[in-house]
Amino acid sequence: MERLLNDLNEQHSRIRMQLAKLEALPSADDWEKRELEFAKLKDVLLPHLSAEEKILFPHLVSDPSDRWQINYYLEQHALIWKSSSELSERSKQAQNWGAGMRVMDTIIQNHLDSEQEQYPHMLTIIDEKNLEKVYQRFLQEEIRFRKELQNRKTMPW
Ligand SMILES: [Fe+2]
Ligand SMILES: [Fe+2]
Repeated sequence: MERLLNDLNEQHSRIRMQLAKLEALPSADDWEKRELEFAKLKDVLLPHLSAEEKILFPHLVSDPSDRWQINYYLEQHALIWKSSSELSERSKQAQNWGAGMRVMDTIIQNHLDSEQEQYPHMLTIIDEKNLEKVYQRFLQEEIRFRKELQNRKTMPW
């Protein structure tokens, strides 16, 4: 379990680092840097969300008390996908882009805090012998999604 948990925490750290870089660009004059750093954020964030939804979460819902928590996470994910999509389309030169980014940052930080608090307990439901398989499939899904993201010229996100 340690490996999966460490990897999830490490990915969360990378997402937070990328959010900090965007928060350091409050001026619309930095729109080119915003474009670049936002693309990097999507590259670490979206494959992570996809792998959690497709691979990890289905393993965690068998505990009835965790089912509520997973539904809550899926609702948060839906908001994050929506924000990502909207901020992708909105001009990085727009005066309200930074405000939108700040809202997305808050949602994501809140979500990651909750996952990091709950995962050590929630992951114990996965059978020891299944863990490695889940971990490998999680990594594969991330790679698959990242490729899809890079190959797409007109991304919905
Ligand atoms: Fe998540
Ligand atoms: Fe996560």
